[in-house]
Amino acid sequence: MKTDILLGLQWGDEGKGKIVDVLTNKYDIIARFQGGPNAGHTLEFDGIKHVLHTIPSGIFHKGVTNLIGNGVVIDPVIFQKEILNIEKLNIEYSKLLISKKAHLILPTHKLLDAASEKAKGKLKIGSTLKGIGPTYMDKTGRNGLRVGDISLPKFKEKYTALKNKHIQLLNFYDYSYSLEELENEWFQSLEILKKFEHIDSEHYINQQIKAGKKILAEGAQGTLLDIDFGSYPFVTSSNTTAAGACTGLGIAPNKINEVFGIFKAYCTRVGSGPFPSELFDDIGEKIGKVGNEFGATTGRPRRCGWIDIPALKYAIHINGVTKLMMMKADVLSGINKIKACIGYTTSDDKKIDYLPFENSDNLKPIYKEIEGWKEDLTNLNDLDKAPQALHNYINWLEKTLETPITIVSVGPNRTQTLHK
Ligand code: GDP
Ligand code: IMO
Ligand code: MG
Repeated sequence: MKTDILLGLQWGDEGKGKIVDVLTNKYDIIARFQGGPNAGHTLEFDGIKHVLHTIPSGIFHKGVTNLIGNGVVIDPVIFQKEILNIEKLNIEYSKLLISKKAHLILPTHKLLDAASEKAKGKLKIGSTLKGIGPTYMDKTGRNGLRVGDISLPKFKEKYTALKNKHIQLLNFYDYSYSLEELENEWFQSLEILKKFEHIDSEHYINQQIKAGKKILAEGAQGTLLDIDFGSYPFVTSSNTTAAGACTGLGIAPNKINEVFGIFKAYCTRVGSGPFPSELFDDIGEKIGKVGNEFGATTGRPRRCGWIDIPALKYAIHINGVTKLMMMKADVLSGINKIKACIGYTTSDDKKIDYLPFENSDNLKPIYKEIEGWKEDLTNLNDLDKAPQALHNYINWLEKTLETPITIVSVGPNRTQTLHK
């Protein structure tokens, strides 16, 4: 049995959490493969709206196993809050396993994130300040602490050594902070983390594949935030792309089957960095309002713009996307003319149809205009009953992106999902 991957094709917040939840009943295991609590994955069902940060989005389906893979970075304090929030809902949640090789976010990682952003001034990344960058830096710098270390006798000693290194760096940044309370909270919250089974997840997952179990690998962030292929340096610190599912879970490339790529019918971005099709007018404002475009982790307003076709094509190639899922079609209802960015004009007046290496701040979008639809889509239960203009948009996207769209989402709820 092979593994499917579900990941974002834009700058995150495409609706990954919702679709993982919708698809979970087809799988035995849902496995998060990268990122950390910078993610905010929103699920809505049975009158509940719930945001997950570290925990996979299959958690509300009984009988499924959820796995936090080695590629994920975990903040025990946020993890504890997530567990308590789930328990408050009084729903029996499914089994949760954690890789021993997942790295831990220390309180000083968060301080370093803040110090680094402050030092960057106007050039700041717009990080969620969850300590993601500094934690992955310690991972690749071979200094990190991992979940499996918690139960080893030298854990405290290792923690202190790393903390002291961080304090030196914080001094270099001339960053003032108070650590004691953060540390107490961190050590207390480890107790909750310890209650879950810590496993050699790469062995587990390969055994499960052999046993014929169906696995869905859940990505965080989006392709344009990938550390290698995103709009560097305005990116996150992990591989958000399909290859990240292999390294973040220990699954070989030849064990991957479908790659589901999720995108919004338009486009959003939180934080700094280029966004050629960004809107600064009342349509952008309307999309933000109707789409409720506020970060699920930080509450920051998301920048809104038109769909970016060259960026989507790029994301489809990098990931080997086999099926597309279009989210938030309902948000565009009532906009007479929808636009799609089909290329860019550079500052020296060249027309290009790809995102260049050079800073794309000065790229001007070239648009194609598409007829919009007036109808409210949120009560639709059959794509066949959708307005012709929506069908035209879907057909044009499928042709242009050379990939089939298999799901169209028309609202945040589980039930507002149309299968094609
Ligand atoms: P993720 O990070 O990719 O899981 O996405 P987020 O949860 O951060 O952001 C997606 C937002 O859009 C959430 O508030 C969802 O509840 C909401 N959402 C998802 N799909 C739809 C949809 O089709 N229509 C509308 N209006 N909202 C949606
Ligand atoms: P989900 O999984 C949208 C953005 C931040 C910032 C950059 C670096 O919900 O789609 P970091 O905290 O990683 O140092 O921030 O990446 N970012 C996200 N934007 N959705 C996310 O996750 C994001 N995670 C990080 O806003 O621009
Ligand atoms: Mg999100």
